[in-house]
Amino acid sequence: MSRSWAEAERAVVRRARLRVSVLVALAITLLVAFVGGIAYLVMSHAQEAQAKRELWYNATFGAPSTPPGCTWLFILDDGELDDGLLQTPLGFPLHEDMHEVLASGETIKRDLELNGTRYLVLTQRGEGDRVAQAVFDMRYQLADRRHLLLALAIAELGGLLAAAVLGLCVGRGTVAPLAEALARQRRFVTDASHELRTPIARAYTRAQVLARRARAADLPDDHRDSLDQLASTIRGLGEVVDDLLLSARLSRQSEGPAGRPVDLASVAEAAVETEEDRAAERRITLTVERPAGPLVVVGVETALRRAVDELLANAVRHTPEGGRIDVRLGSRDGQVELTVADTGEGFDQVEAARLFDRFHRGPGAPERRFGLGLALLREIVTGHGGTVEASGHPGEGARFTLRLPAAATSTTVADGALTTGRR
Ligand SMILES: Nc1ncnc2c1ncn2[C@@H]1O[C@H](COP(=O)(O)OP(=O)(O)OP(=O)(O)O)[C@@H](O)[C@H]1O
Ligand SMILES: [Mg+2]
Repeated sequence: MSRSWAEAERAVVRRARLRVSVLVALAITLLVAFVGGIAYLVMSHAQEAQAKRELWYNATFGAPSTPPGCTWLFILDDGELDDGLLQTPLGFPLHEDMHEVLASGETIKRDLELNGTRYLVLTQRGEGDRVAQAVFDMRYQLADRRHLLLALAIAELGGLLAAAVLGLCVGRGTVAPLAEALARQRRFVTDASHELRTPIARAYTRAQVLARRARAADLPDDHRDSLDQLASTIRGLGEVVDDLLLSARLSRQSEGPAGRPVDLASVAEAAVETEEDRAAERRITLTVERPAGPLVVVGVETALRRAVDELLANAVRHTPEGGRIDVRLGSRDGQVELTVADTGEGFDQVEAARLFDRFHRGPGAPERRFGLGLALLREIVTGHGGTVEASGHPGEGARFTLRLPAAATSTTVADGALTTGRR
């Protein structure tokens, strides 16, 4: 039905647009993260190398009283500590390291977090008993890295914003042809349906006239019956076309299910009545169980009738002679429920969801079946805001359950016709 087509179309277009936006955003985010990550790595690496070089140079050639910026030098010579009389950071020099180096001659390198900053410390032995300890304060390098990270975060945020806008524009541009193709397809169906209405109405009138004349004339019974059948077939065709148009009109209304109030119980009873002869031919017991009052839903009666017809036709086809088909109607939790259960060949439960796929036919389905009935039924049901469910077991029968939102309680039946109090 075009009502659900419209919803499906909108969902397809929305999904496509979202996918493009997310992909563009992801691409930009990854690009900024990649470039930023490389910049950060190169910068930190260069800073570390520079700090270590300065540390070594200072420990080897520096003088405690004139160290370069952010650096301190302590010299232990003959037991005397020379700190260049400078103000030294809290915790320095590391006396233990100096004495250890003095004793072992091994160089000690340290990377310390202290006083809210990071220090690189190199303690090494010089000539004689001379031990030098160079300390490098990394606070400016750390601040540079923090600034770089902040800049990257801002770039990432800006990139994301740009990606969202770009994604939206690109998405709109790339998805527009898809939306247009879908809309054109829907327009074609409604236009074709509309154009078919008049010739069908004319053919129906002529068939009716012919059937009436045939009744008056002295024609054989089977000719008269054929003309009656021709008239009713053409009427059915007209109903299908009207249905398509009505559904297309409904699809333009965004608020909830619309249409006319329909008593699903009467629809089901009428459908069962039509199927009774075929069931009797195959000695199948066909029963209907329904509550006394009407079960009103809002929708398109002919479409709902086709849905019930399809369930019954399938059940009769898949139930062997002597079997049973039970149609049960009721309402629960604001929903009208219709169940068609048979004692036929059934199906594997894992197949249940696939039965509603277009062109899905069960094993052994005859060639003239298309596997479309249940797919169309589901479109009708979802178009009415309802659900359909199948359950079964091989050899133990099948059960199909339709659930449709019940019409507002003020909906009433009057003189066989339904009126509704929906606001
Ligand atoms: N009552 C049932 N019992 C067992 N299997 C069923 C029943 N109803 C449907 N099926 C399985 O579901 C399949 C799909 O059903 P559907 O009505 O979509 O197609 P179809 O009846 O094969 O063909 P079409 O309806 O297009 O003429 C069927 O081929 C059949 O295998
Ligand atoms: Mg079918």
